[in-house]
Amino acid sequence: MKPFMVLALCCSFFCSKATPLPSEFSDCDDPDVFKAVDAALKKYNGERATGNQFALYVVMEAERTAGPDAQFYVKYRIFETSCAVEENTPWQHCSYKPSAEAKTGECIARVHMNDAEKTSNVSQDCKISSDVSKVRVIQAPCLGCYHPLSTDSSQVSEILERAIQNFNKRSTEAALFKLVEIKEARRQVVAGWNYKIIYEIEETNCSKDQFPDLTPECRVTSRG
Ligand SMILES: *[C@@H]1O[C@H](CO)[C@@H](O)[C@H](O)[C@H]1NC(C)=O
Ligand SMILES: *[C@@H]1O[C@H](CO)[C@@H](O)[C@H](O)[C@H]1NC(C)=O
Repeated sequence: MKPFMVLALCCSFFCSKATPLPSEFSDCDDPDVFKAVDAALKKYNGERATGNQFALYVVMEAERTAGPDAQFYVKYRIFETSCAVEENTPWQHCSYKPSAEAKTGECIARVHMNDAEKTSNVSQDCKISSDVSKVRVIQAPCLGCYHPLSTDSSQVSEILERAIQNFNKRSTEAALFKLVEIKEARRQVVAGWNYKIIYEIEETNCSKDQFPDLTPECRVTSRG
């Protein structure tokens, strides 16, 4: 048996070295809040004809109504990126412009998510300013902390699938490796969300030569 312990540090949204702005955050662990913010920000970027896209910097406040067709109230800060609006790049893939040249903005949005039709109705107001230094810093209890996540959440499995694919692509081992166990999964609320997942993989009986990727046929081998 040849187990490997791997730590996946992953940013599914946007990762930045910038210090996050601390602030109030009511629903830290609600992935739906992020979907609502994503919908609102996409709409904001989509409505701009020229200039650069904005990426999420931090979610400052979030409230939601109960039930499947949730209505969200979100207040979030955005930061100018170096992606031109015309490029149509998802904002998650854009990097922040240097502070000295960047514009920042604060948006208040009401987002109605219709889960059945996968649509959202956004009404929002964004105030853009070019003075990044005026960004107010307020007290934040949960920004920057890691929060435990359920290891069977779909976000965790999506991230791991990509991570293991990458591992197999880059490894110099002859065999493909497969997930055996997720030891721990945590999420950090910063500019975007960071995930920290500790998991274990083991060698399978599929060789890299014969299999481009893992298939259900690939089983963990238990060589001593
Ligand atoms: C979207 O929101 C606007 C403003 O609140 C409302 O008038 C409109 O009916 C909504 N549309 C849908 C499809 O919910
Ligand atoms: C791997 O082992 C499983 C179970 O023993 C077997 O069904 C499968 O065919 C094997 N795969 C390969 C590529 O040898």
